[in-house]
Amino acid sequence: MAKKRVLSGMQPSGLMHLGNLLGALDNWKKLQDQYECYYFIADWHALTANYADTSNVRHYVREMIIDWLAAGLDPEKAVIFQQSLVPEHAVLHILLSMITPTPWLERVPTYKEKIDQVKDKDLHTYGFLGYPVLQAADILMYQAAFVPVGIDQVPHLELTREIGRRFNAFYGDVFPEPQPLLTEYPKLPGTDGRKMSKSYDNCLYLSESPEQITKKIMQMVTDPARKRRQDPGNPDVCPLFSLDKIFAPKEWQDYINVECRRAGVGCVDDKKELLKHLLAYLAPIQERRKKLSADPKKIENIIRDGSNRAGAVAAKTMEAVKKAMKL
Ligand code: TRP
Repeated sequence: MAKKRVLSGMQPSGLMHLGNLLGALDNWKKLQDQYECYYFIADWHALTANYADTSNVRHYVREMIIDWLAAGLDPEKAVIFQQSLVPEHAVLHILLSMITPTPWLERVPTYKEKIDQVKDKDLHTYGFLGYPVLQAADILMYQAAFVPVGIDQVPHLELTREIGRRFNAFYGDVFPEPQPLLTEYPKLPGTDGRKMSKSYDNCLYLSESPEQITKKIMQMVTDPARKRRQDPGNPDVCPLFSLDKIFAPKEWQDYINVECRRAGVGCVDDKKELLKHLLAYLAPIQERRKKLSADPKKIENIIRDGSNRAGAVAAKTMEAVKKAMKL
């Protein structure tokens, strides 16, 4: 039986951090053994909000490919490609835009949120409103059965299904309905205790050296009520303990869970122990990053080859689309 198709993408709007690794990449990596996977860098999506300053996009695309490969995505197993190298995405986007009612787009929660909250950029553009139409094109292009995403992307998937249904109703059955594969992962705290996010400047990046990671962990916020070493702390509200629960061995977690509460152990000791395990976890990734960074030709070949493979599938879909639309 043919493997079902999985597709997902990420915007190259910054460097990848530990939250991205645990929340998405580790999951993508598992899926590449069970499914026919397509993973792509959504560089056009990054332009929808960053159109005024595009100077970083190229750099982030390259670093993202390196992060993906270093984290274990395997171009022998999955098709790894770049959206802008498969121009069919733009063609399908424009055709889908013809049938997408604008009120559907104005209702999208991420759209409303960003329009209300983002003040340093003008997001009242045609491109930004059309963000989910481009995403629908990305997904429908590969007739993907499953799309691994976080919960925030579910409305985009819903809209993708609605656009696909509307297309099928007008022109005949071309697109199957994709389902989200929800990536369940506890939110990773950043160094300030809030959710790890590049907009908070509290991230541990995959591209950082062990020295930089060490410095950040040593300055990381712990239980804010525990001001001095002799104060008892509460691991339940401590962001450092959240990291312990992921990276430190069970015995250490149990030890902290008892000793922190009676000031038997200090935050500095906990940080040092966490660092041992965190740095060991990151070491092979950083090793692969180093090798890949020194070999730009290899990176370029991988992304070109993946984009050619994706392009072959996209060309077939576009033939079916044009035939259905009598173009
Ligand atoms: N909107 C997604 C995000 O911000 C990125 C994305 C673009 C995507 N196209 C996609 C995700 C297609 C899944 C499938 O995370």
